[in-house]
Amino acid sequence: MKIVVKETEQEASSYVAEIIGTALREKPGLSLSLPTGSTPVHVLEDLVRKHHEEGLSFAKASLFNMDEYLGLGRNHPQGYYHFLDELLYSQVDVDRARTFAPDALDPVPEHAAAAYTKLIQDAGGFDLIFLGIGRDGHICFNMPADSLHPYTHLERLSEKTVADNTRFFDDASEVPTHAITIGLKLVLDSKKIVLLAIGSGKNDIVRELLASESITTQLPASFLRLHDDVTIVLDAAAAAGIELA
Ligand code: GLP
Repeated sequence: MKIVVKETEQEASSYVAEIIGTALREKPGLSLSLPTGSTPVHVLEDLVRKHHEEGLSFAKASLFNMDEYLGLGRNHPQGYYHFLDELLYSQVDVDRARTFAPDALDPVPEHAAAAYTKLIQDAGGFDLIFLGIGRDGHICFNMPADSLHPYTHLERLSEKTVADNTRFFDDASEVPTHAITIGLKLVLDSKKIVLLAIGSGKNDIVRELLASESITTQLPASFLRLHDDVTIVLDAAAAAGIELA
């Protein structure tokens, strides 16, 4: 895994935006999966800036949410599709017919999950997936557990993750406890993987991830070691005190 450390959150985010921008310029029909949460905010801002100032076009790209809270529709203000719509899709030349998320309103979530796996596979998988990481080591919404899922599935969120996510909701009781997320094989099938971790809150999990070469279902991000093209981008706060080879 290639590790890149930048001084500030802004610099780390710009570095990731440049990777995405370069990939899009090289392949306008890029198949790209994007994360949500706090981590991607400055990356998305920089992509919008690149669109306006540098003519970066998303017109031919396919964009995939990696997960969605169960029960939240595309227009729900705390939903993940809405998040990407607001911060990216509505501000660039994306073709909304090529923006995708699991159907979290499907009365049978397993059907929605299977349909999403098929959609991704029919598209040829991802060219690039940009990941955040949870403080418990989850990627997408693949939580630490005794076993992990390869394909899209319904996931019960860890207590730590539910607690972390309350900041996005008015009331703790509104925080969803389940999500539909892509699984580890769909992540690892991506041709290229970029993971961004910023801030001191991610320091412990980044240390744990980089401390060992082993792969464990208790730290889902450790599975990225199975892939040949992974770049982990950190800011100084996330990398603090960690010895990097
Ligand atoms: C969220 C999302 C992930 C994200 C991670 C970290 O719940 N499902 O896509 O990478 O957890 O979130 P944050 O960036 O807010 O710390």
